[in-house]
Amino acid sequence: MRRPLVAGNWKMHGTRASVAELIAGLRTQTLPEDVTVVVMPAFVHLMSVADQLGASSMNLGAQDCATEPMPCALTGEVAASQLTDLGCRYVLVGHSERRLLLGEGDALIVRKFSAAQAVGLTPVLCVGETREQREAGQTLPVVLAQLDALIDTLGVAVLNRAVLAYEPVWAIGTGLTATPEQAQEVHAAIRQHIAMRDAAVAAGVQILYGGSVKASTAGELFGMPDIDGGLVGGASLNADEFGAICRAAGRVKNA
Ligand code: PGA
Repeated sequence: MRRPLVAGNWKMHGTRASVAELIAGLRTQTLPEDVTVVVMPAFVHLMSVADQLGASSMNLGAQDCATEPMPCALTGEVAASQLTDLGCRYVLVGHSERRLLLGEGDALIVRKFSAAQAVGLTPVLCVGETREQREAGQTLPVVLAQLDALIDTLGVAVLNRAVLAYEPVWAIGTGLTATPEQAQEVHAAIRQHIAMRDAAVAAGVQILYGGSVKASTAGELFGMPDIDGGLVGGASLNADEFGAICRAAGRVKNA
């Protein structure tokens, strides 16, 4: 059985004061033992969050890493090994905001994925279609091509040490959540596509849904057979809301 995972992507939010407040709020939450919970602050807050998490069961993740696993002359970037040094266990790669607003392409994303794994970080690869692509009936071709860019380069077995996140771009930060059925359809297609290469890898890989997940919608989404948790943006900045989303992942998958 796949273990549910809920990750909070704080994006470029937070001051030292607001981050401390958020962590304090999260530490009062009852979190389910059978769900992996990850918080992903901006780089500048990673160290203080690592300290403030202390012995909490929450894991630390970053939102991006360099294409190089080890420190080198690459101004402004952060090496994957610098993230593990701070206590990170997860890192997002290929978030749609980086793909679309910063022009990151599949080749660069695959290098970041590889750099993360090279130092034992678990990459969370994000895939998803835009509204125009969905309306043109291109959802699956787009999503599967983003996945194939990885599998064709590094092989399907790398997914044994990775997490996938399906995030329809039209649902991110818009309040427009995909319906559980819309999301499940894509999650199942992703899993089937991987199964054509390796059934065991497909059965084991966690596929998260992301895009305006809230406590009020999480239960139904996480109840779908191929949705193994969530990648949560806006709602992860509210401790009570994020706690409730984490609990929804535990309750449903344990039922
Ligand atoms: P959202 O963001 O929950 O605010 O839609 C999700 C994400 O971008 O990971």
